[in-house]
Amino acid sequence: MASTTNHKQLQDWVAQIADLTKPKDIYWCDGSSQEMDNMMAALINAGVAEKLNEEKRPNSYLVRSDVGDVARVEDFTFICSEKEVDAGPTNNWMDPAAMRDRLQGLFTGCMEGRTMYVIPFSMGPVGSHISKIGIEITDSPYVVASMHTMTRVGQKVLDVLGDDGEYIPCVHSVGAPLAEGQADVPWPCNLENRNIVHFPETYEIWSFGSGYGGNALLGKKCLALRIASAMARDEGWMAEHMLILKITNPEGKAKYVCGAFPSACGKTNLAMLTPSIPGWKIETIGDDICWMKFGKDGQLYAINPENGFFGVAPGTSMDSNANAMLSLTKNAVFTNVAKTDDGDVWWEEMTDDAPDHLVDWTGQDWTPDCGRPAAHPNARFTAMASQCPVIADEWEDPNGVPISAILVGGRRATVVPLVNESRDWQHGTFLASIIGSEKTAAADGAIGDLRRDPMAMLPFCGYNMADYWGHWLSLGEKQGAQMPKIYYTNWFRKNADGKFIWPGFGENSRILKWIFERCDGSVGATETPIGNLPREEDLDFDGLEMDAETTATLLSVDVEGWLSELPSIREYYAGFAGRTPAALMAEVDSLEAGLKKAS
Ligand code: OXD
Ligand code: MN
Repeated sequence: MASTTNHKQLQDWVAQIADLTKPKDIYWCDGSSQEMDNMMAALINAGVAEKLNEEKRPNSYLVRSDVGDVARVEDFTFICSEKEVDAGPTNNWMDPAAMRDRLQGLFTGCMEGRTMYVIPFSMGPVGSHISKIGIEITDSPYVVASMHTMTRVGQKVLDVLGDDGEYIPCVHSVGAPLAEGQADVPWPCNLENRNIVHFPETYEIWSFGSGYGGNALLGKKCLALRIASAMARDEGWMAEHMLILKITNPEGKAKYVCGAFPSACGKTNLAMLTPSIPGWKIETIGDDICWMKFGKDGQLYAINPENGFFGVAPGTSMDSNANAMLSLTKNAVFTNVAKTDDGDVWWEEMTDDAPDHLVDWTGQDWTPDCGRPAAHPNARFTAMASQCPVIADEWEDPNGVPISAILVGGRRATVVPLVNESRDWQHGTFLASIIGSEKTAAADGAIGDLRRDPMAMLPFCGYNMADYWGHWLSLGEKQGAQMPKIYYTNWFRKNADGKFIWPGFGENSRILKWIFERCDGSVGATETPIGNLPREEDLDFDGLEMDAETTATLLSVDVEGWLSELPSIREYYAGFAGRTPAALMAEVDSLEAGLKKAS
């Protein structure tokens, strides 16, 4: 049954978009399981989805996208603020009036021959004071199905919106109108005209040409990060690209931490980690996005605005992330993975040995020696968070969970130690602003080519990144010591032979334990010019084989390495044309002074 509303302004807006895009009909989504089944049936009918073997993976599907529409497209993603400087040097900017002209052209008649779906959705538990409501208009049944999993959809959202509530308008089209009698293709898209557009001052999203992931499921990166980061700046809260997890110690005491790691640094694995240390428990609240608001007690409380996981499949296995694998045993949609001969799915590293024969993500026969990947490297799984065996009971608490610590980190083969605690919020903001990953392998101790990804928000900050740092600092000025502690972690340190020296995965629980105990004041650290580092005796290394040299590399300050990195930090800050907060520049100066004293 389609959903209904008396929200006059919403009805008028939907009518206006229909006037522009000229769909053959309009359907208001109700969020029911019948609706999900109808969408999947439509996708099967279109030849783009297949049902998987019901015995092996009940109620699950495989979808194959167009081979050119497989990932987010940062080059075609725009932040259209009135002034270019407000988008900043890390975003693509276009004048809003010029962009509106372009959109007018692209969207005119773009839904001809297709159904226009209206998806009322809530980012965050329906009715929570931290949640936000969006309305996505789309002509893609794949988007409707995916939004069902990734957000809360339907009449319940319209009920909370009432007759005059506020929502974020999100318009999406695959950009492939159908003329009378024209046959459709399995995955319609319009690759040459992709435009993923954000108006951060009026809180609007328009997306054209792509049907995939973050380009099309507009609740995720577009709303929950780019637009929400601008709303958070305006309203005094935080919208972050962070996982949220719960740690419980053997005595049953729990704490919540969140963590910012750039894409492809193992966020989902960390969020669902199985601890290697006895008696400790990790549970999941969220694996990608975190919204934090201050409670009456002055603490930051976090919700996961999403309802499901949109995870990268290749590399996920019972060894690397058993809880993700167990979340996918039923009611899952897989996109661009390979299909086994018995009607199940497979991707690289899912099992030690590849099957002898598969149908690959493009629909071709595949054998282990054919020289092509079976799954696309960005192949995805979509499943409800409630299916995760370690989802925390309170993951949908409308008041959020109190955050004790924030982890940040990237992939650093050199220089950055295993874990480094900030001295205070300002110092932590500095550390978070310089995280990044080495793009090229470091040789002979030299630093590899670094892509800095501040707070893991480089592709997701909806305004000038330097102003965003200013926003972090201003929250610290207001709340002072009540702000969570910040920890710069690095699971990816390598030795001179290019081998990882930290085992990672479940062993990261040892670092989480130290962080938990630091927040409790029950474990020590040593003060260094870069921050507070655990001494060997502060970390639980029980049962871990680690030679003295490796331990020293992981837990000491590479003074020369840090000194040689300072010019690139200064250069990076200088790229923000005077907008970088003075407090962060002062942090670089005091780091330099401390390192020089130590050298
Ligand atoms: C994601 C990303 O898909 O960060 O979550 O790229
Ligand atoms: Mn992400």
